[in-house]
Amino acid sequence: MRVVAIDGPAGAGKSTIAQLLADRLGVPYLDTGAMYRAVTFAALRDGVDTRNEGEVAALAQKTRIELSPGRVVVDGADVTAEIRTQRINAAVSHVAALSGVRSILRNAQRLWVESRGGGVVEGRDIGTVVFPDATLKVFLTARPEVRARRRVAESGGDVDEIARAIAERDRLDSTRSDSPLATAADSIQFDTSDLTIDQVVDDLHRMVIEKERINGRG
Ligand code: DC
Repeated sequence: MRVVAIDGPAGAGKSTIAQLLADRLGVPYLDTGAMYRAVTFAALRDGVDTRNEGEVAALAQKTRIELSPGRVVVDGADVTAEIRTQRINAAVSHVAALSGVRSILRNAQRLWVESRGGGVVEGRDIGTVVFPDATLKVFLTARPEVRARRRVAESGGDVDEIARAIAERDRLDSTRSDSPLATAADSIQFDTSDLTIDQVVDDLHRMVIEKERINGRG
C-alpha cells in the first residue's frame, strides 16, 4: 500500500503540499487534522465540556465525519468553513490531547486509507503512530515567522497575534502524553521556508518514486 505520511507543526504548508502530492501520485488525500476539528465542532455544538474525556470520546464514536476533497461534513452538515474558525482553533488541541478520542480517530484514519488502497495522510502522528510503515515519512517545518505570515495571508489577522496562537498550539501538540507532535526517526525533515510549493511537491514526488524503486515496487 502506498502511504505517504506528512507531519509537522501548524502553518508548515502540510495541507497544500499533501493535497498536490496526492493528486500527482493519483492517491486520495486525508487531512486528519480536519477529523480532530470535526470532533471539536461536535463538542461545541452539543455543549460537551472539552475536558471531559469520556463524554468527548463517546461523541467522537457516534459523530459521522465525511471527508471529501475540499469539504468536511459532520452529521450531515457542511462545516468546511466553520472548523477553521478561531473558536475551533482555540479548542482543538485540548480535544486532540484526549487519548480516548485519539484511539477512535486513529482507527478511523487507518480504515479510511486501507479501504482506498493508500493515500497521502497529513497530521501530527502519522509517521510515528498511525502509519509507522509508510512508504515515505516527511516532517515539514518552516521558520515561525514564515508560518505566521502564511496563516495571515490565508485568513487575515494580526501577525504577532497569530504567531502567539500558533506557538501555543504547537506547545500543546508537542507536550501532550499521547502521540505528541514529534519527528519519526526515519522521517525526512523538510524546511519549506524558502521553497515554492512546486519545488517541495517535485522533491517529495521524486522521493516517493525513489523509495518505491528501492523497495522493489517501482
Ligand atoms: O493540522 P490542523 O491544524 O488542522 O490540526 C488541528 C489540530 O489537531 C492540531 O492542533 C493538532 C491536532 N492533530 C493531532 O493531534 N493529530 C493529527 N494527526 C492531526 C491533527
